[in-house]
Amino acid sequence: MAIVCKSAAEIERMRQSGRIVRQVLDHVRSLVKPGVTTMDLERAAEKKIAELGAKPAFKGYYDYPCVLCTSVNDEIVHGIPSDKRALKAGDIVSIDCGVVLDGYYGDAAITVPVGQDLKPELQKLLKVTEESLYRGIEQALVGNSIGDVGAAVQAHVEAAGFSVVRDFVGHGIGTKLHEEPQIPNFGARGHGAKLREGMVLAIEPMVNYGKPDARVLDDKWTAVTADGSFSAHFEHCVAVTKDGPVILTQ
Ligand code: CO
Repeated sequence: MAIVCKSAAEIERMRQSGRIVRQVLDHVRSLVKPGVTTMDLERAAEKKIAELGAKPAFKGYYDYPCVLCTSVNDEIVHGIPSDKRALKAGDIVSIDCGVVLDGYYGDAAITVPVGQDLKPELQKLLKVTEESLYRGIEQALVGNSIGDVGAAVQAHVEAAGFSVVRDFVGHGIGTKLHEEPQIPNFGARGHGAKLREGMVLAIEPMVNYGKPDARVLDDKWTAVTADGSFSAHFEHCVAVTKDGPVILTQ
């Protein structure tokens, strides 16, 4: 399958899906505090998605069981919500949500601290990961390449002394959750597919405090850092337009 470019009308519909994802993430973020379980967040998200008239994108996708991925501390991505996982002060939790509205998908992620006083080095991990997402987004320009996005993310992350996960990547998005092309958070300027008007990219840096290596737990989903270091994840859907990058998940 080739890369699908979207019309302005389609991008407008994706903005609606993106808006719902953001509303869900904002709501879930407001509930994060010590003692809350990741299943509490899941239930709140499921209710909110329904209230907003959308459908969850992740539940049932390759048999994934939930509407959110909730990845705590050394979990990189695809943590499965559980009523046994109570959040503690000093934890970080990555919350990833996808929805579909009228056939168009939206997908975004944030990483949030639990409680008031996150360790300074983890505050830096969150800040650098979010900044790296915006460095990538700035490169989502007509005529640039996929490698320009990854190179910008990687340069910012590595300058701060952190590492970019290689085993999971961003993706095109549209009438499917995952479309071509893959969007690595690493790469070389000028390499990979050229960006064209109407492409919509889910850019999603996953950044480890320590080494980049990942492994998947026996639940077949949860990806954790091999060295046990903490990991952060931020994601936006971005349309490539002749007026520059447009973030659809604001
Ligand atoms: Co995604």
